Amino acid sequence: MTMDNQQAHLLKSDFPILNTAYKGRKVVYLDSGATSQKPQVVIDAINQYYRLENANIHRGIYRLSETATRIWSEAHEVVARLIGAKAEEVIFTRNTTEALNLLSYTLLPLLQGRTEIVAGAMEHHANLVPWQQMAKRHGLTLKIIPMLADFTLDMTAAQQLIGSKTAIVAIGHVSNALGTIHDVHKLFAWAKALGALTVLDAAQSAPHLNLDVGKIGADFAALSAHKMLGPTGLGFLYGRRDLLEQMQPWQFGGDMIAEVSYDDAKWNELPMKFEAGTPHIAGAAGIVAAIGYLKSVGLEAIGAWEKELLKYAIAELGDVPGIKLYSAGEQRSAGILSFTLATVHPHDLASLLSDDEICVRAGHHCAMPLMGRLGVSATARASFYLYNTFEDVDMLKVGLIKAVELFG
Ligand SMILES: Cc1ncc(COP(=O)(O)O)c(C=O)c1O
Repeated sequence: MTMDNQQAHLLKSDFPILNTAYKGRKVVYLDSGATSQKPQVVIDAINQYYRLENANIHRGIYRLSETATRIWSEAHEVVARLIGAKAEEVIFTRNTTEALNLLSYTLLPLLQGRTEIVAGAMEHHANLVPWQQMAKRHGLTLKIIPMLADFTLDMTAAQQLIGSKTAIVAIGHVSNALGTIHDVHKLFAWAKALGALTVLDAAQSAPHLNLDVGKIGADFAALSAHKMLGPTGLGFLYGRRDLLEQMQPWQFGGDMIAEVSYDDAKWNELPMKFEAGTPHIAGAAGIVAAIGYLKSVGLEAIGAWEKELLKYAIAELGDVPGIKLYSAGEQRSAGILSFTLATVHPHDLASLLSDDEICVRAGHHCAMPLMGRLGVSATARASFYLYNTFEDVDMLKVGLIKAVELFG
């Protein structure tokens, strides 16, 4: 399966928000890195759940509760299949952030006295601050793989940093700020050869490529439904079964227990052990529809199309006066392009573009240390998904030129 501009135009019609005009203009949505838009099938699945299927899971011996429980279990199977895991290895969380926090509060007993955590220079705060704080709590050291001038990770330095003291290597697969795709195969192979645990922040990769946690060598992986056409408030933590079994729960309450007395409690089996309380059941209906939609288009085709868009954007935007692109190039990047203009602050730019219903993100992209490394406080970022077209990039270019002319 392949995608082209015509198909991207056709796909737009599946997304109600992209067909709604505001002051006579349809939205040009270039912020899918923050959250994706939702196709009608996902909206319908959530709507159907609340209209016809709503009940709490696991508790009721009646039709509606059984239906809700089936939706919940099926969603685990569908997400597991998507990433090459087993259903009991996929814990449903609120988002990637919660999945990574869960790990940072539960992995200590598995570290075997090792004292170092290794992360990359481009991490999103969600894959940096939890490890930084875990290190502070337990007297561990957080080591950062530096970035090279071409916006890739310094793999020579990485190989030196990962050693016999390394407990965890936690890497974002794709940088949300710059789009760089990291060689996680290699990083995780080095880590595993030395007995370290590997954590993949797949928030920006799972929506755009065929992810197989086993092939990549990830012991754990975290992703968010809302970045892959699904609803907000739902995320996933994959963990190798043998590791999850050794870990203690992070949150306590209903559903995660097998037996409780006033003095003690025993934990439920996986994944319930880590899923305390009433979860986002409607979200489970939504993500099943979202993954069905993604698979019908084909993740490989989607990723390849986004690279086409990135290549086009790099070529087209490159001659906007005063533009600086922060990109490792389309070969080594996913569909994300960060840039600054010499005469227009990213916030002013985003606000001007918004007047024409063009949505880009401006700011530090939850990667403040990286911005420091780049010597800027903020960049503007366009991020693509399957519904973006060459014309969206053209509109962005027109908007950028308008901004440069205005701020002169
Ligand atoms: C690479 C990366 N990691 C983690 C996150 C956090 O995702 P969430 O806000 O869904 O928890 C994001 C969100 O933008 C991200 O891009």
